Amino acid sequence: EKGTYPHFMLKEIDEQPLVMRKIIQAYQDENGRLQINEEITNAMLKADRIYIVACGTSYHAGLVGKQLIEKLAEIPVEVHLASEFGYNMPLLSKRPLFIFISQSGETADSRAVLVKVKEMGYRALTITNVPGSTLSREADDTLLLHAGPEIAVASTKAYTAQIAVLAILASVAGAAKRVPTDLDLVKELGIAASAMDTLCDAKEAFEQIAAEYLPATINCFFIGRSIDYFVGLEGALKLKEISYIQAEGFAGGELKHGTIALIEKGTPVIALATQTNVNGSIRANVKEVETRGAHTCIISMKGLDTAGDRYVLPHVHELLTPLISVIPLQLIAYYAALHRGCDVDKPRNLAKSVTVE
Ligand code: M6R
Repeated sequence: EKGTYPHFMLKEIDEQPLVMRKIIQAYQDENGRLQINEEITNAMLKADRIYIVACGTSYHAGLVGKQLIEKLAEIPVEVHLASEFGYNMPLLSKRPLFIFISQSGETADSRAVLVKVKEMGYRALTITNVPGSTLSREADDTLLLHAGPEIAVASTKAYTAQIAVLAILASVAGAAKRVPTDLDLVKELGIAASAMDTLCDAKEAFEQIAAEYLPATINCFFIGRSIDYFVGLEGALKLKEISYIQAEGFAGGELKHGTIALIEKGTPVIALATQTNVNGSIRANVKEVETRGAHTCIISMKGLDTAGDRYVLPHVHELLTPLISVIPLQLIAYYAALHRGCDVDKPRNLAKSVTVE
C-alpha cells in the first residue's frame, strides 16, 4: 500500500535507509559480524573468475559489484548483459562462478542464461528480492535483498539493496581470504543509512534541480568517472524510463572522443564527483562542457573540494558512494516525470517484470 505517498516510487525511495538497516541485521551473526552461508563463501573462494549477469538497473548494480568484489575479495569479475550473453558468450575461465542479479527473480533474459550455464555444469548464485522466484529456485544458492515488495516499475530500493548485499558478499569472501582492508562494513553501511536519511529529508533540493534543469529540455547527460560513471548510467536510465527525456550516462574521459559534440547552449549535464582519485579530472570535464554552453550541476561529497557545487552529499566510504549518490538522481527523475505529467509508477511501454526474451 502507498499509505500517504502519492506514488510507490517515492515511498520506495524513502524506504532505502530502513532497507539498509534490515540488510545489516539479516546478514549479521550473533556477534554482530557479517556472515554469508558457508557454501556460498566457499564457491566464491573456489572461483577463478566471477561472471555477473543481469539486465537494466540490476546490471548497473552489477557494475558496482565488480568494483566491490575485485577490491575487497580480489577475485576478477566480468559483468554481462543477460540479453547479450546468451548468443555472445565470452570465453569462460576454468572455474567460473555465475551471479545472477534480479529484483524480481523472473527476468526471462537472465533466466535463459541461468538455464544455459546450469546445463554446462556451472554453479550459480542468485541475488534477488523475491524468495521462491524462478531464478532463486533454479540457482544453487540465493541471497535475498530484504527490500520488501518493489511495486514501481522504476527500480530504486532494489538497486541500493543489491549493492549492499554485493558489498557484504565481497567483504565476507575477502575476510575468508584474509585480504587486508580498512573497511568496517557494518559501521560504514550504518553511516550510509544515516546519509540516506539526510538525502530523503532533502527532497526539495532535488525537486528544485529538476525544475531548474529539466523542464523544457529534450535531453540530459550524466557524467562521472570510475564508480560515479556507473551511477550516472543508472541516473540516466531512471530519467529516461519515467520522464521520457533522452538521457545518457558517459564516462567523463570519453567526452572528447565524440560525445562532446552533443553539447549545446543549455544542455543539462549532471556530474557526479564523489571519488578523490578522479576529482580533478571530472571537474576538468565539467569545465569543458561549460565552455560549450552546458548547464552543469555538480553533485559531490563532503570531504572533497566542493566549493560552488550544486549539492554536497554527506560523507560515506568511497567504495559505498553509489548507495547515496543514486538517491538525488532517483529524486531528480521522479520530480522531472511528475512535472511533465507522466505516470511515474507505470511508465509507458514497460512492465515491472520482463518475462519475455
Ligand atoms: O527484476 P530484474 O532486476 O531482473 O529486472 C531487470 C530490469 O528489467 C529492471 O531493472 C529495469 O531496468 C527497471 N525497470 C529499471 O528501473
